[in-house]
Amino acid sequence: MFRTHTCGELRIEDKGNKTTLSGWVQTIRKFGSITFVDLRDRYGMTQLLFSEELNTILEQNPLGREFVIQATGTVNERSNKNPQLPTGDIEILVTEFTILNKSITPPFTIQDDTDGGDDLRMKYRFLDLRRQAVRQNLELRYAVGRATRNYLHDQQFLDIETPFLIKSTPEGARDFVVPSRMNPGQFYALPQSPQTFKQLLMVSGYDRYYQIVKCFRDEDLRADRQPEFTQIDCEMAFVEQEDILNMFEGLIRHIFREVKKIDYTEKIERITWSEAMWQYGNDKPDARFEMKLCNLKFPAHVFNDKKDISHLISNVGFNVFDDAETVIAIAFPGCAEFTRKQLDELTEWVKRPQIGMKGMVNIKCNADGSLKSSVDKFYTEEKLKAIAEATHAKAGDLILILAGNEEKTRKAASELRLHLAQQLGFRKPEEFKLLWVLDFPLFEYAEEDNRWVARHHPFTSPKPSDIQTMIDNNPVIEHAADYLKHPYASIKANAYDMVLNGHEIGGGSIRIYQKELQQKMFAALGMDEDEQKHKFGFLLGAFEYGAPPHGGIAFGFDRLCALLGGSETIRDFIAFPKNNSGRDIMIDAPSTIDEKQFTELQIKLNLNE
Ligand code: AMO
Repeated sequence: MFRTHTCGELRIEDKGNKTTLSGWVQTIRKFGSITFVDLRDRYGMTQLLFSEELNTILEQNPLGREFVIQATGTVNERSNKNPQLPTGDIEILVTEFTILNKSITPPFTIQDDTDGGDDLRMKYRFLDLRRQAVRQNLELRYAVGRATRNYLHDQQFLDIETPFLIKSTPEGARDFVVPSRMNPGQFYALPQSPQTFKQLLMVSGYDRYYQIVKCFRDEDLRADRQPEFTQIDCEMAFVEQEDILNMFEGLIRHIFREVKKIDYTEKIERITWSEAMWQYGNDKPDARFEMKLCNLKFPAHVFNDKKDISHLISNVGFNVFDDAETVIAIAFPGCAEFTRKQLDELTEWVKRPQIGMKGMVNIKCNADGSLKSSVDKFYTEEKLKAIAEATHAKAGDLILILAGNEEKTRKAASELRLHLAQQLGFRKPEEFKLLWVLDFPLFEYAEEDNRWVARHHPFTSPKPSDIQTMIDNNPVIEHAADYLKHPYASIKANAYDMVLNGHEIGGGSIRIYQKELQQKMFAALGMDEDEQKHKFGFLLGAFEYGAPPHGGIAFGFDRLCALLGGSETIRDFIAFPKNNSGRDIMIDAPSTIDEKQFTELQIKLNLNE
């Protein structure tokens, strides 16, 4: 028997008992004639004490870091207890031991605050995974998966697998493609999601489907994006948006309860996409804190239902605001005391190419009620007061104002809000704020092709009140510059995202289930009948055989786990992730393949032509 206990198991109650442990050597400390070894396994760490009698054997069989050993001995009360460790009251008085396997010196220390850099840890991921911090992340991931399965099982969902070798129909991200040896010149694609399959399952009558499933997208990577990632993918038939929102609020609350022991009972707020853009400048607001945008000026076609307050800033000869399409202010609480240097640094920050602003105006709302601004020579104190009022600034606040092109300025304001919130300590990882964002636009304008693309995906249904607008109007955009005036720009979708702490953790929609409307949608995206048939003939065909009304959602499983674990980096929650260039540096993939493989596939490489 290799072990009678794990390295995390023994307590003071076991004192005097004989035990055998197996594990990895974490540290070796020599004190005169005795040696202490910390032995680690998945469950914890136990101190081993090698007394003087074992010295000769130890000299003949020296131990090293990460050696795998088996040690037998008696549980002993420690004289020097370690309250940080669950096994910290005891140690094992070793009577015999065996080296089961040796290890060469590991390239970094296997402990929480490791000295290994990112690349090194990824190259030796099998060692990195021994670290407690990473193991805890994987345990949390497992717990989220289990809670998900339990909840969905109780709600009558069936876990049904869908294929990984499917047809390439890129929309949004690029497909990863796989050549077919048996069908020379033809390719499968790896699914970006099981979207059409889950819809087909609804046509087949499996009215509650789920899968915790890998998805593959060849897109640019970020901290919260991997080329292969996992979704909790769900679909339901005979449902409306409200049914889906309720069902999956239930799932998230269940996960919080089971995994984090948090009773998330507060109402999950619902905000429309246009309100999110208006108040936060982006469609995945971090609502853990306020600091909302104050829109001092904006193009009327963007938010045509909003009150124009541009008179507060115009007609004083300040060209920066007069010439700008959009002017946005944010009041930052308690920041009036920022020094000149701090303000200069912030101005430089918004001028960086990633943000792209030309400058920034500030108004300090001093504690004594007076106002001081970088544009004092244009604005009287009275005018500044009116601006401060509009931003809901209080004494002690700092108002920062950005001006420029609508899209860029709104994005910059959103970034500035998050940047300062981070600095001010408002983005607390242990605090959670969920939000639904609803009523997304159905279409998005693709500048390079001067056409409409689906904002979510082409199977998302328009709001019933907008269907006629879609049917009645030609999708062609006559004047690219005026695309926002096209009737399609204002069509809203039956789509929803769930947002946690400023990250989109899930997205879905009520689907189109009538063939004619689906064809109209494809046509709106510029697909003629032949292309529709070639790419989605199977779906259009299925819709002729009694497709029920249906809808669904998919959660980003890795993202959800990372956020629940207090991190924004999903890599830390994936056992074997890729780096930012999409490489697995441990197995060195992607890599070239043999000439023989090319021959079998009848493929010729054409790299430099
Ligand atoms: P969507 O494309 O919004 O919807 O994806 C759903 C969720 O998956 C996560 N996600 C990612 N996570 C890590 N790396 C990526 N590259 C990545 N891309 C997306 C996000 C996102 O909210 N079929 C639809 C769902 C539906 O309509 O039911 C879909 O895939 O958290």
